[in-house]
Amino acid sequence: MNDLNAKIQKFAQLILDANNIVVLTGAGMSTESGIADFRSPGTGLWEKVNPDEFASIHSYVSDTKKNLDFMLEMGLNIFKARPNKGHKMLTKLQRFGKLKGILTQNIDGLHQKSHSKNIVELHGTAHEAICMACNQIYPITTMINQVMKGENRPSCEACNGLLKPNAIFFGEPLRSEILSQADDMINSCDLLIVLGSSLLVYPVAFYPRKALSLGAKIAIINIQETDVDSFAEVVIHEKIGDVFPLIVEIVEGEINQNN
Ligand SMILES: NC(=O)c1ccc[n+]([C@@H]2O[C@H](COP(=O)([O-])OP(=O)(O)OC[C@H]3O[C@@H](n4cnc5c(N)ncnc54)[C@H](O)[C@@H]3O)[C@@H](O)[C@H]2O)c1
Ligand SMILES: [Zn+2]
Repeated sequence: MNDLNAKIQKFAQLILDANNIVVLTGAGMSTESGIADFRSPGTGLWEKVNPDEFASIHSYVSDTKKNLDFMLEMGLNIFKARPNKGHKMLTKLQRFGKLKGILTQNIDGLHQKSHSKNIVELHGTAHEAICMACNQIYPITTMINQVMKGENRPSCEACNGLLKPNAIFFGEPLRSEILSQADDMINSCDLLIVLGSSLLVYPVAFYPRKALSLGAKIAIINIQETDVDSFAEVVIHEKIGDVFPLIVEIVEGEINQNN
């Protein structure tokens, strides 16, 4: 058995042995759906734009028009994207009863489109807009329609406050109720699977170590190395779509055999 096959077998066995699995997903989960991540060499968004000028709450308020152009381009790409093999495999694992929930840093809604359940969106969603003054939530189309009509300052119908996508920008705090849902998931899991995250953004960067300190095992699929690799039971540096279906196939085979 070669090294990769052995890792795939080991990954599947960890899933079969666990009773409370949580999956943590990052932007690498959605690159195979055509949505660029931030940090992949050559294709990551941060090689094209400066994060200080875009996607920070300060830059959005001070230069709304420039940020809207960038967001519209990214948003339209997100809205047309479809779930990929990785998303579908997670939905399948959940149907087998092998997956408690998904903690995602993604704002693209692809886990929902793939019909997964119990999803915590740490960084909010690109599918909604929120009023910065009164917190009223709108479908994102409300904001897009205004921008498409040439409005440089999309505004709330109720109070005329500035609308922004309901995703967390740099410089904004994460919502406390979302953080406590994430904590509950991390505190109770016995296997934490990380798919497609550089694990550089907090609080996610902290979750594997926290889960580990509470006795959980860690398994990772990510093309690039991460700081957590050395703590994990198994690490596979390949594309999710190339290896995760093979892992789920082994799990499915074992489950069917035992039923
Ligand atoms: N799809 C989205 O919603 C989206 C897109 C871009 C950025 N973001 C935001 O980006 C922030 C960045 O943190 P992050 O850790 O999620 O992303 P990141 O860009 O820092 O890291 C992504 C990681 O995924 C790996 N990767 C890329 N494609 C992969 C594949 N097919 N299979 C396996 N691994 C793959 C890369 O090697 C990289 O290490 C998050 O806060 C998130 O909100 C989200
Ligand atoms: Zn308002």
